[in-house]
Amino acid sequence: MDLVVATRNKDKLREIKTLLKGIRVRVFSLDSFKGVPEVIEDGKTLEDNAIKKAVQVSKFLKKFAVADDSGLEAEYLNSDPGVYSARFSGKGATYKTNNEKLLELLKGMPLSKRKACFRCVIAVADKGKIIGVAEGRCCGKIGFESKGDNGFGYDPVFIPNGFKKTFAQISASRKNNISHRSIALKKAKSIISNHLSLFR
Ligand code: IMP
Repeated sequence: MDLVVATRNKDKLREIKTLLKGIRVRVFSLDSFKGVPEVIEDGKTLEDNAIKKAVQVSKFLKKFAVADDSGLEAEYLNSDPGVYSARFSGKGATYKTNNEKLLELLKGMPLSKRKACFRCVIAVADKGKIIGVAEGRCCGKIGFESKGDNGFGYDPVFIPNGFKKTFAQISASRKNNISHRSIALKKAKSIISNHLSLFR
C-alpha cells in the first residue's frame, strides 16, 4: 500500500521516512504529486492542523496519508511558539531568525526558566477519513546560544533532558531515539499497521 506523508518539509520527511522503516508501505511525499492544494495551517492547536492536513491530502489524492504538526513549547513564554513555531519571527521567518528571537526573549533567564518541550502530533487518514491521532513529547531546556549543525529548526538551541548537548550536536540516530517525532511515530505505526491489516 502507498502512504503519503503530507509535507513538503524535507527535514521532517527525512526523519519520518527513517522512523517508518519496518512498515510494509511505499512512502511518498507531496512532491511526488502534481496539483495538491496547499493546506492552510490555521488551526489553534497542533492537533487541528495535523488532522486538517491528513484529511485534506488523503481526500484529494484518494490515498492513505499521515501528517505531522509539531512545535516547541517554552514554559517561560506560556507555551509559545507552539503552533506558530515555523513562523515565530514573522513574515519570511527562517530557522535562524526563529532561534534568534527565542534566544532574545529568554535573554538573561537562568536555566531553571528555560524549560521547553517539543511536541509532535501525527494524524493518520485514509481517503478523507481520520483513522487515528498520536502524540509525542520530548522535554529539555533552551540553551544560551545556538550550537551544532545537525537536524533542523530549533535543534541548535534545544538541549534534551539527560544530555549536555543540543539536538543539533548529536547524531540523527540519537535524536531519533528520543525525539517527540519518534515517540509519536511509534504510536502512529501501530495505528497504520492495524489499518493495513484490514486489507489483508
Ligand atoms: P509545522 O510545519 O507547522 O509543523 O512547523 C514545525 C516547526 O517547528 C518547524 O518549522 C520547526 O521550526 C519546528 N520543529 C518541529 N519539529 C522540530 C524538530 O524536530 N527539531 C527542531 N525544530 C522542530
